[in-house]
Amino acid sequence: GKVCLAYSGGLDTSCILKWLLEQRYEVVCFLANVGQEEDWDQVRAKAASIGASKMVIKDLRREFVEELCFRAIQCNAQYEGRYLLGTSLARPVIARAQMQVATQEGCQYVSHGCTGKGNDQVRFELAFLTISPSIKIIAPWRMPEFFERFQGRNDLLDYAAATGIPVTSTKAKPYSMDDNLAHCSYESGQLEDPSQPPPNDMWTRTDDPMTAPDTPQDVTIQFEKGIPVKVKSEGREFTDSLELFIALNAIGKTHGIGRIDIVENRFVGIKSRGCYDSPAMTILRLAHLDIEGLVMDGRVRSLRDQFVTHSWSEILYNGMYFSPEREFIENSLVFSQKRVNGEVRLRCYRGNCYVLGRSSETEKLYSEEESSMDSLVDFSPVDTTGFININSIRLKKYGLQKLEEGNGI
Ligand code: ARG
Ligand code: SIN
Repeated sequence: GKVCLAYSGGLDTSCILKWLLEQRYEVVCFLANVGQEEDWDQVRAKAASIGASKMVIKDLRREFVEELCFRAIQCNAQYEGRYLLGTSLARPVIARAQMQVATQEGCQYVSHGCTGKGNDQVRFELAFLTISPSIKIIAPWRMPEFFERFQGRNDLLDYAAATGIPVTSTKAKPYSMDDNLAHCSYESGQLEDPSQPPPNDMWTRTDDPMTAPDTPQDVTIQFEKGIPVKVKSEGREFTDSLELFIALNAIGKTHGIGRIDIVENRFVGIKSRGCYDSPAMTILRLAHLDIEGLVMDGRVRSLRDQFVTHSWSEILYNGMYFSPEREFIENSLVFSQKRVNGEVRLRCYRGNCYVLGRSSETEKLYSEEESSMDSLVDFSPVDTTGFININSIRLKKYGLQKLEEGNGI
């Protein structure tokens, strides 16, 4: 049979590649470029040297940013109030491209190096099965014949040495990382004790806020239909979506913006400590929340917050991107963004990003005169008395009940 393996060039997937070849599979390797730091030529050469019949590398950065990251921004997506979903957002585009390669190459199988305890296996496999319902999946870390033979890093190193797999990693990081344009994640290994701070030199997408420049940097972000279309800072201007995203990552990196350190609930029910740095996503989310304040209808916003933001984030986290519920929810999300037009000025300074001002040339829901304490044009304060009276009918009864019960409020 023929397998399309998600191959990173690291120790795990190199051993999986060799092991699949030993099981007499033909292996086509696939690697997605979602903006991670990578030596592409080295990965290519390594796959060939181990025995892959082909190595396909696809640049998915634009679709990742435009289709997933910007949708997350429109949604103000966040998991458990903290995590901006960097890894979850990348999975759908990677899985889709891998399935395309598998189909083009005539593979009956796909394989990956995700562990049996994580979210990623669920995300990849649900996507594979949705896109190609008859595909067969080889998940070595869930197969006893694999995980009983390779019980730890040392077994993998021994196998690599015995089978001539070049071990390129200079020194293994004491934690696991997943890097893409939206973030870099850090989990497991020495991070497993949640009471201890992560090592100072761990973060890759943000510089240390403690030593960040003492001069702030101002940025202006323009939105159309809730999507960032222009970024301006220090005389430079970006209008291409990928370029503006990369520019925001660079600004956020310099000023140490977007680090979080959390304990989260994985879909498989396990609690896990994770650290994430997401500079561009953090800045964009703040700017988007802010422009919505100026231009979005209050009731639509409340409904979107209740029924879209949480659901969409959870759908993505749980690997259900390719699902009817995501399509359903996304339709109302896109509708809610129709008039999210305007720009936000922000200041980046030492780990923080805050809003300086916002404006919109086209949207008129906010009126200075209407909100002014010094004007009564088109507003009748007498009516407000009735508004309060009517709303208090129910609350007075509640107050009386509380009095009867003798506990007060
Ligand atoms: N816990 C995060 C998530 O589930 C990050 C996962 C990182 N994945 C990885 N293969 N290192 O989205
Ligand atoms: C993995 O288990 O492969 C990484 C962690 C995760 O998917 O949650």
